[in-house]
Amino acid sequence: MKLNNIETVNKVGQEVILKGWVNTVRKMGKIVFVDLRDRSGFVQVVLVPSEITNGNEIELSSIKPEYVLEITGIVNKRGEKQINKELPTGEVEVLAKSVKILNTAETPPFEIVNEERQANEELRLKYRYLDLRHERMQKNIKVRHAVIRVMREFFYDQDFLEIETPFLSKSTPEGARDFLVPSRNYPGKFYALPQSPQQYKQMLMVAGLEKYFQIVRCFRDEDQRGDRQAEFTQLDVEMSFVDQEEILHLVEKLIIEVMNRVKPAVGTQHVVSSQYIAPFPRMTYEAAMKKYKSDKPDLRKDKNNPDEFAFVWVTDFPMFEYKEGDKRWGATHHPFTAINPEDFKLLEKVKTHHNASLEKIRAWQYDLVLNGSEIAGGSIRTHDPKILHKVFEILGHSDKEIQAKFGHLLEAFKYGVPPHGGIAFGLDRLVAILCGETSIREVMAFPKTSDNRDPLMDSPSEVEKEQLEELGITIKNKM
Ligand code: AMO
Repeated sequence: MKLNNIETVNKVGQEVILKGWVNTVRKMGKIVFVDLRDRSGFVQVVLVPSEITNGNEIELSSIKPEYVLEITGIVNKRGEKQINKELPTGEVEVLAKSVKILNTAETPPFEIVNEERQANEELRLKYRYLDLRHERMQKNIKVRHAVIRVMREFFYDQDFLEIETPFLSKSTPEGARDFLVPSRNYPGKFYALPQSPQQYKQMLMVAGLEKYFQIVRCFRDEDQRGDRQAEFTQLDVEMSFVDQEEILHLVEKLIIEVMNRVKPAVGTQHVVSSQYIAPFPRMTYEAAMKKYKSDKPDLRKDKNNPDEFAFVWVTDFPMFEYKEGDKRWGATHHPFTAINPEDFKLLEKVKTHHNASLEKIRAWQYDLVLNGSEIAGGSIRTHDPKILHKVFEILGHSDKEIQAKFGHLLEAFKYGVPPHGGIAFGLDRLVAILCGETSIREVMAFPKTSDNRDPLMDSPSEVEKEQLEELGITIKNKM
């Protein structure tokens, strides 16, 4: 077994076996210094030809960056002047006794250690496996893993069931555009990839499973931005027999667990600040819009301080909003959100789609905002099929459409649906902020470009004529 580079500090005077990549290589006369990299970090290896027993077989000067080496050597303390305080293993170096080249490497298209590679997204994504070798990217991937682990453990402890829901689902007009998947068995018909497991998790509540969570991929065919990808990950939660207060409280407990357990491990000397001691501050949508002109207010005192995390709940969103682009009313969150009972009287007054009282109807919807970014959103759901039907009507669906698009849910709601509610986190967004990144791409292993391509696999790509024929599809306009 190899020793992790980072553990060399505890092995002074001992012989160790290291395996990893050449991060940098420096030559001083016949002596070669290699910064060896593995998942745990870096350690300096010194290659002195006279010390190496298998030295004749290997031309030391042929060793280049990204070669994969096996080193057997002795861990020595460095002299006072040679100590590198920047490096966790900076007090030691390994004097190689034997060197094996496990594999050679071509000169990479960019220097792994060079931050300049940032400039070229296309190249970074085409060679993502090289980009991910960079220290910062490795750290981001580890933080993501740590966050997911804390989340899972938290929900297991709270007696939630982790349940998977289908990816091959049905297109329903919810918010964004769907990704469609043609059916071979039923030519002309399509599955849709879920924009979120919203309807499934509600049906799990009808099924009596009471407490559900899932870390799940969601798909929305929308234009990409720094905090938006077509394919992203949610921590998705749903509970029966709860009110808004109970959900907010549970989420605060979760976040404090994540902050306390993950944040110190990412390298900062972070002291638990009063900002993430529950309860988080709250403000209504109306108050946020009035004071900050935004429903995602950034409450940090100092926006330049990377260790400041300002959480705030925004509550009481309007149930409906007018979609200028489509010239129709839409649901601010989604149609399944419950209306605040205090505003039922306004709902009764709604006769036409253009009724002004629509925008005054408040929903039991809440968003969690962190440093000005919406990291989670959820709501208590309507469990009265009549009100749900009414909401679909207001959104402009005919009876026939309601049956075709949402009939399954209305049907399910006939059979004793418990009061329920939930929330979903944009996991990528939360992790990006914890890592101090401005784009969620930096915390995803294989993200897409801003115009929705994957330069690594070269997708989307054309398919065989036979595949299209099987699906009954003809391409009309080729780009
Ligand atoms: P919503 O649509 O608000 O709610 O999504 C929940 C959270 O997911 C994140 N998010 C995204 N992250 C990256 N890329 C995207 N394209 C993207 N879109 C959304 C945001 C957002 O707060 N089913 C409901 C949740 C519920 O009601 O329980 C839902 O999906 O951080």
